[in-house]
Amino acid sequence: KRVLVLNGPNLNLLGMREPDIYGHTTLSDIDALCHTAADELGLAVDFRQSNHEGELVTWIQEARGTADAILINPAAYSHTSVAIHDALKAVGLPVAEVHLSNIHQREPFRHHSYVSAVAYGVICGFGAAGYRLALHALAEKLK
Ligand code: DQA
Repeated sequence: KRVLVLNGPNLNLLGMREPDIYGHTTLSDIDALCHTAADELGLAVDFRQSNHEGELVTWIQEARGTADAILINPAAYSHTSVAIHDALKAVGLPVAEVHLSNIHQREPFRHHSYVSAVAYGVICGFGAAGYRLALHALAEKLK
């Protein structure tokens, strides 16, 4: 089974970006972590990042027929993007939403995510380990 792993804006800066909140793990560390977890679970992962909402929407649309599930950290688009919500809903694949930080502990504008309403499950606050936990949950779901 194939999982499309999508990362939204500014996640390319992980490691140097607000390390008190996001830690020192880089996006390439998370890419490696996902591949290790996927190997253990017998999944294939396609790991991507974009700073552009439309590019994420296009990748979500293309997942129909090419992926079995989507793991997404929509980053700031979580809190703003009806377009990403609609694309995920249209594609209809199981979605795991992941946030490194505990968004509920932070500013009020981070407490709502448009993606959560179309997600199979949401993991937040466990840092990079959240991606591994989400892959485990998706592997179970896809059995
Ligand atoms: C984030 C949380 C978002 O509020 C923020 O805009 C991000 C990262 C996280 O992984 O904790 O860019 O999705």
